[in-house]
Amino acid sequence: MRVLGIESSCDETSAAVVSGSGDNVRLESLTILSQDVHTIFGGVVPEIASRAHLTAIAPVVRHALEQAGAEWGTIDAIAVTHAPGLVGALLVGVSYAKALAAARGIPVLGVHHLEGHLFATALDDPLAAPPFTALLVSGGHTMLLDVPAWGEYQLLGSTRDDAAGEAFDKVAKLLGLPYPGGRHVEALALRGEAKRHRFARPMLNGGQRPGDADYYDVSFSGLKTAVLHAVRAAEAAGTLADDAPHLARGFQDALIDTLTAKTLRAATAFGRTRIVLGGGVACNRALSDALTEKVRATLGVKATVHTPSPRLATDNAAMIARAGLFRLERGEQSGYDLNAYASLPIPGLIALGGATP
Ligand code: KG4
Ligand code: ZN
Repeated sequence: MRVLGIESSCDETSAAVVSGSGDNVRLESLTILSQDVHTIFGGVVPEIASRAHLTAIAPVVRHALEQAGAEWGTIDAIAVTHAPGLVGALLVGVSYAKALAAARGIPVLGVHHLEGHLFATALDDPLAAPPFTALLVSGGHTMLLDVPAWGEYQLLGSTRDDAAGEAFDKVAKLLGLPYPGGRHVEALALRGEAKRHRFARPMLNGGQRPGDADYYDVSFSGLKTAVLHAVRAAEAAGTLADDAPHLARGFQDALIDTLTAKTLRAATAFGRTRIVLGGGVACNRALSDALTEKVRATLGVKATVHTPSPRLATDNAAMIARAGLFRLERGEQSGYDLNAYASLPIPGLIALGGATP
C-alpha cells in the first residue's frame, strides 16, 4: 500500500509518501516547510499559521509526490492529521486531503497527531515497535504511555500544566533566546555547571507510590517560576550574562531528572525493556543520553532507548502517513464529513486499569 500523508496541525506544512505493509514500511519522501514567520512574534499566531498553510499546501504535496517519483495512480490513500492542533490550521490539511481524495477516487483517513508521533521513530528504526514505554514530549503535549501493541495506548501520566517543550520555550524567552527555544536552551546548557543552580525536581519524591495521582504525572510551571525568580535575581545583581548557561543547565537537569524518573517507573511497572521517545523535545541529546544511561543502569544492558531523528521528532507528515497506513490496513477510513478538532483522545486509548477514559 502507498499512502500520501499530510500534516498541518501547527506551524509546519508537510507532506510525505510511505509504502509497504505491516512493520515493513518504507519512507519514500518527506517535505517539511517550517513557518519561520512566527519567530517574529515569539510564538505561533494561529491566523497567520492557517494562511501560511493555505499558500504552502499545494506545492508541498506536489514536491513530496515528485520526490517519491509517485504518479497519482499509484497512491492508494491519503492520511491527514485531523486532531489535535489549531483548528484553522488543521482544516487546511483536512479540506485539501478530502478534495484530493474525492478528485482521485481514493480513501481519506483522519489521523491523530499524537498517534503519528508514536509511529515516527519506527520509520527509521524497526526495533521501535511495541511493546514499549512511550514518552511523548512536544511543544503542546507531554505524555507517558504504555504501548502493548500498535493501536493500544494506556495513558499513565501527563503534564498538569505546561508541556515540556512549552517550558523550554518559556525559559528560552526569560533568557532572551529566540523562539522556538528548546535547542537554544540545550546549546546554552552545554556551557553551564550543574551545581550552580539546582532547582527542585517537580512532582518527584521518593514517597510517591504506584496508584498515587502524581506517580506518573509531571508539572513544569513551578520550575519555570523558579527559573524566573533566579533570572530576576541575576538581573538585579548584574550577573545574568555570566549566569545564563548555569540557569539553562539547572532548568534542563531538573526537567530531565523528572521525565527520566517517571519513564523508568512506567517501564519497570509494565516490564518493558524498550523506551520510545517522540515529539520535538526528543531532539534534546541531554534527555536521550540521560534516559539511556538510567535505563541501562536500572533495566539492564539489553534495555534500549529509541530516539527519532530530528526531522521525524518534530512535526512531519511521514509519521502521519505511517500511522494512517496502519489504520488503513485495518480497514479504517473516514467519510467526507471528516472534521478537525482542537483536542481529541488518541484512538485506542485505555485509562489506567483498562477502562476507556
Ligand atoms: O513536536 P513539535 O515539533 O511540535 C509540537 O507538536 O508541539 O515540538 C516542538 C517543541 C518546541 O517547544 C521546541 O522548543 C522543542 O520541541 N524542541 C526542543 C529541542 N528541539 C525542539 N526542546 C529541547 N531541546 C531541543 N533540542
Ligand atoms: Zn507534534
